[in-house]
Amino acid sequence: MTIAIHESALIRHFNTRKETLRAWEENIGARFSPFRGFKMPDSRLYCEHPDFLDSIVDLIITNERHIFLRGPVGSGKSTLMLLALRDLPTLADRRGNKFITGYVGMTGLYEKQMSAAIADSLRIKYRRSWESSQIIDAVAQESVRRYIEEKSRTALFIEDVADNQEAAFHKLRYLADLPTEEMKDDYRTALDEPIVTLVMSGTKLYWNAMLSFLPQIADRTEPLDVPALGDSKAREFIGRRIAYAKGTIDSFDSANYDVYPFHDDAITVLNTAARGNPRDLRMLARGCQQVAAENFKRAGSPDVDPEIARLVSEAYETILKEVR
Ligand SMILES: Nc1ncnc2c1ncn2[C@@H]1O[C@H](COP(=O)(O)OP(=O)(O)OP(=O)(O)O)[C@@H](O)[C@H]1O
Ligand SMILES: [Mg+2]
Repeated sequence: MTIAIHESALIRHFNTRKETLRAWEENIGARFSPFRGFKMPDSRLYCEHPDFLDSIVDLIITNERHIFLRGPVGSGKSTLMLLALRDLPTLADRRGNKFITGYVGMTGLYEKQMSAAIADSLRIKYRRSWESSQIIDAVAQESVRRYIEEKSRTALFIEDVADNQEAAFHKLRYLADLPTEEMKDDYRTALDEPIVTLVMSGTKLYWNAMLSFLPQIADRTEPLDVPALGDSKAREFIGRRIAYAKGTIDSFDSANYDVYPFHDDAITVLNTAARGNPRDLRMLARGCQQVAAENFKRAGSPDVDPEIARLVSEAYETILKEVR
């Protein structure tokens, strides 16, 4: 028996919808939807917050505190980490130390998985058969060696840190406290400052949990709130995505770009509804594309005006409330 796919009303519905969206995209010169989610986001899509990025990097360089990038889901914590990771290897601290960076993006890790992920991220060798404490010890020894012999400090980025098993934290704490008293005795003046800086991310809830359950780390950690997108950054967010979908992102000029077919005041409406949260802004813009595409089919205009923006913002309000 064959399945008569061509007879399915559902598939017909989806195909019509896809064609409607496609027609809108073609009309504005886009090769795909500007607002689709990318598994591997492209850094050319990022709107930078230069001052905030500087404050992260400055904190790492001065070596006084660890960092907790704090923000709601979708606020851009991971994006900021990637930007800081990009900049750090090109910098040095006041003593002329360079930086070696590691990034642990996976969560839900047990003690041993965490230890292995850290070693992998810092390109430190270990044996699979080792216990987690042996792996972390190898990480500690190699970090000390890199500090002394290569004049390099280690910056370790850990995503959504609270989403790991509790035991995994103690490994982090050990690294956060390096050098140990014993090492200080062994190396004397050569080891008189912390050599590993942790840059962690998480929501406010998790920061509060860390304050109560891991005060030893929290006390030495600076929480930094990820800034919301202001209206001009929201405009850039839309502009970059449209340019990306048109294939013109490489000539994107942040001082002079177009957001057609979005009206500027439509973007303001959307950014207010999104409260400057980039993930929510993307969802809302995608909703606007759908409404605008229907309009385009009916009336021939691809515009996203404030009216559409309001309509979509209202429709999404309950959804956004639920995921917040
Ligand atoms: N500054 C930015 N410029 C452009 N896009 C951004 C920016 N910040 C975040 N985004 C986009 O918004 C979405 C959410 O960002 P990101 O994943 O960094 O947030 P998050 O806070 O790490 O979220 P989660 O809590 O889900 O891990 C991604 O699609 C990302 O590309
Ligand atoms: Mg993230």
